Amino acid sequence: MFGVIDPGSASGIATNQVLHSEWAMPSSLKPGKETLRTQVGIIGGGPSGLLLSQILHRVGIETVVLERRSRAYVLGRIRAGVLEQGMVDLLQEAGVSGGMDRNGDPHEGIRIAYDGRRHRIDLKGLTGKTVMLYGQTELTRDLYEARDAMGGVILHEVENVAIHGISDDTPALTWCAGGESYRLECEFIIGCDGFHGVSRRSIPPEGLREYERVYPFGWLGVLSRTRPVNDELIYANHPRGFALCSMRSPALSRYYVQCSLDDRVKDWPDERFWGELKARLPEEVAARLETGPSIEKSIAPLRSFVVEPLRHGRLFLAGDAAHIVPPTGAKGLNLAASDIRYLSSALIAYYRHGSDAGLERYSEQALARVWKAERFSWWMTGLLHRFPETGEFGDRMQRAELDYLFSSTAAMTSLAENYVGLPY
Ligand code: FAD
Ligand code: DHB
Repeated sequence: MFGVIDPGSASGIATNQVLHSEWAMPSSLKPGKETLRTQVGIIGGGPSGLLLSQILHRVGIETVVLERRSRAYVLGRIRAGVLEQGMVDLLQEAGVSGGMDRNGDPHEGIRIAYDGRRHRIDLKGLTGKTVMLYGQTELTRDLYEARDAMGGVILHEVENVAIHGISDDTPALTWCAGGESYRLECEFIIGCDGFHGVSRRSIPPEGLREYERVYPFGWLGVLSRTRPVNDELIYANHPRGFALCSMRSPALSRYYVQCSLDDRVKDWPDERFWGELKARLPEEVAARLETGPSIEKSIAPLRSFVVEPLRHGRLFLAGDAAHIVPPTGAKGLNLAASDIRYLSSALIAYYRHGSDAGLERYSEQALARVWKAERFSWWMTGLLHRFPETGEFGDRMQRAELDYLFSSTAAMTSLAENYVGLPY
């Protein structure tokens, strides 16, 4: 249980007004002159941290976001593209849906290519729901713009962030920037700093349990200024390996191929990438694939990972800091959103009504959804990739699973209801 803090008197200085969004500490607040305080200290300026800070700020709860990288670096990362309806709703409620409402592309189905044929999963027909194609990069830019418009505090290029006092109710963050050291006293600390962040590592090992599976392959992703090969996403199972055709706009395509963990981006000049992608797609699709120079190319390893619980004292974990899914089911970003939905509601109930029931429940509530998405992402990864170690028996099991899927409305409905997102 936490001691209840009066929302009205909760924090000393109004940090939202005194700190600039890109790194620039006003001289009146140089270290040693004044103690910095806020209500919720957030580590990580990715989608989880920005969305949480946006939702809390809109109801008057102060936040400070600490981000290790520059804004340009964060916005240069190309990642997810498929948003569930639950996330779309949350973005609308948080007042950050303008870009998505204008430029997002609702999709009613996906295709699974196998044995030279394409099978359609009718998401809308089977579940009544759709998904929204809208890039994480664009969404992150929208979030930064919304935070700036409200005077939100996001400090970039902070180094050596350290967490203090989470077990004894004196939470604080320290960091270095521009050659100076800083300390920020908080009421809660939220770790939104991704898989490699400092938050999870700050919890004593006896305070958490980790579950992990590392897959024996990665995804090579390419962004190109070419027209998408199809109006719906194509997930392809092919003897040469998995491939995915996705998109960002009518003129911007996103493609992925399964690759070896030993591969480096320099091993994949554009010609090799396009040749390999074509080889893994049904002929009629390959024939109309528009190719062109890549404008981004990166390799991501595939991993399933969950830490339990998502809380240690006054530190809470959310998004990739707490769990990773292989990207096959397009669930990583969406899980970050459901964590933030639960956690923001719990923090708002705490500050508005002095109730810590939601904070007490957060870990269990979020993990129940996380594990279901972990299961789906693991299953879809198994369905569509070449696994070096499973041999011919594994191949036949995969064939049987795909044959069953395409012949059973029940099986297709199960895929569809997970793909569009389980309820929050
Ligand atoms: P992140 O986006 O990782 O943000 C964490 C932030 O914390 C980063 O900006 C980081 O710089 C910052 N940070 C880290 N350490 C510190 C520190 N010590 N101090 C301060 N700041 C710190 N999902 C899909 O659904 N589909 C995909 O195709 C897909 N592709 C992906 C490709 C890659 C390479 C990766 C890594 C992830 C991918 N994901 C994908 C997953 C999806 O992008 C993530 O689930 C999503 O970014 C989670 O958001 P987040 O804010 O929790 O974490
Ligand atoms: C995209 C990424 C995914 O992991 C996925 O399953 C579908 C689409 C994308 O980047 O567009």
